[in-house]
Amino acid sequence: MDNKQISKAVIKRLPRYYRYLGELMQDGVERISSNELSEKMKVTASQIRQDLNNFGGFGQQGYGYNVSFLYNEIAKILGIDKQHNLIIIGAGNLGQAIANYTNFERRGFMIKGMFDVNPRLIGMTVRGIEIYPVEQLERFIKENDVQIAALTIPKERAEEMAEKLVSYGVKAIWNFAHTDLNLPSDVVVENVHLSESLMRLSYKVSNMKK
Ligand code: NAI
Repeated sequence: MDNKQISKAVIKRLPRYYRYLGELMQDGVERISSNELSEKMKVTASQIRQDLNNFGGFGQQGYGYNVSFLYNEIAKILGIDKQHNLIIIGAGNLGQAIANYTNFERRGFMIKGMFDVNPRLIGMTVRGIEIYPVEQLERFIKENDVQIAALTIPKERAEEMAEKLVSYGVKAIWNFAHTDLNLPSDVVVENVHLSESLMRLSYKVSNMKK
């Protein structure tokens, strides 16, 4: 299956399908129709059929979708059937919160280390994950085959750090700093901004019919 044929809009929806299918598997459900999935996910059945048609015709009339097959296919497309090594830059509140969350490992994202400039944090561990000085970044990235770096540092330092990380071989930045990064086009950046999400929520709650 060629991932390039799948639109960005579908890729964006895949993690949600993956989550629902995982829950169905946990509940022992082996197959599900697009109508049932539609009811659960509050997405139209035709949207589901269109999205899942991208992965070949394994939704069969009168049979529905094979839950575990679909789950595994989506994992392959998302690349979460493989292990990704990750580091966290900035071992403050947010960096530590991410390190404390165990579920990323279940998805194959292995947090190999954290890095900070604050000497008081160096050598400490968070859930067994050690905090190293930034001076060790280059060697650590090379020795641990690190692909992804989470940026949880002040925005003023983010661009400079991202450029360094890329020069050391990092291929993907999970950017939490509130700034847009200008990086070479072969580096993938995923921005995560809780406050933007909260502003969207604010818009919705402010525009609710009374
Ligand atoms: P914090 O102050 O608790 O932690 C920041 C850490 O980064 C500190 O330990 C500091 O020593 C370290 N640091 C500073 N410069 C560094 C550098 N060049 N290299 C390595 N480490 C460095 O701050 P907090 O609350 O953890 O927030 C971190 C960043 O994440 C901030 O930019 C904040 O605005 C952002 N943030 C983003 C959210 C989002 O939804 N995107 C949510 C919460 C925070």
